[in-house]
Amino acid sequence: MIDTHSILVFIHIVLMSYWLGGDLGVFLAANRVADPALPFDERMRFMKLLMILDMAPRTALVLMLPVGFHMAVNIGLVALPGWALAVIWASTVAWLALTWVVSLSEGKLEGSPLPKLDLWTRYLVLGALIALGILSLATGSPIFANWLAVKLLLFAGIIILGLLLRGAVAKWVVGFGRLSEEGSTPETEAIIGGARKTAARQALLLWGLVLANGFLGVTQPF
Ligand code: HEM
Repeated sequence: MIDTHSILVFIHIVLMSYWLGGDLGVFLAANRVADPALPFDERMRFMKLLMILDMAPRTALVLMLPVGFHMAVNIGLVALPGWALAVIWASTVAWLALTWVVSLSEGKLEGSPLPKLDLWTRYLVLGALIALGILSLATGSPIFANWLAVKLLLFAGIIILGLLLRGAVAKWVVGFGRLSEEGSTPETEAIIGGARKTAARQALLLWGLVLANGFLGVTQPF
């Protein structure tokens, strides 16, 4: 018998696969983008590929939350009324649409409040997850399993790293702007290479946190 919970677990695992696989693709494409030995056009082609691949982790991050909370409600690990779950799902659909619009805008949203709205949504979710995780670890409620509370805190760490990555990407964009105007110079390559190094460190850590979250979900050790 196939029940709703099994389907949610399946979706949860598919999201993890696309997240890890997408991040690997982004990492490898970024190495090509930062390679000064490649012609500019080729680097730009890898950049376009990178942006498309990056939609997988971006989408997975948003969808993990309603799927995860829905599963937690199903197996009695969190006390959430049905309406709260409905609110989580509805706001996630809106957040996902916002994420897609902002991510695919390629910087064409100048003057629009949408990028800021996306940023503030992340701060809001981050604050809520940290509060929920710490409160539950300290009092045993509203999340009744410590492994799940820790999962939420790791997820908060993932959101923080995602926000930090934006700083590296902003420098990367500046480097590319100069590369397209001035061509490959030691300075432009230093900006791109430096941003790449910082981003690679943050991305690897983020990848580790996604893996750790998968491990906790499978083993449920405490
Ligand atoms: C990076 C993020 C995450 C990853 C990679 C991840 C991965 C996983 C994996 C692989 C499982 C085991 C599935 C199975 O039973 O075979 C799992 C279980 C679970 N996860 Fe996550 N998870 C993430 C985030 C979340 C979040 C944010 C929540 C809650 C809001 C959540 C709630 C759960 C629950 C409740 C289970 C247990 C399902 C069950 O035992 O039937 N997860 N997770």
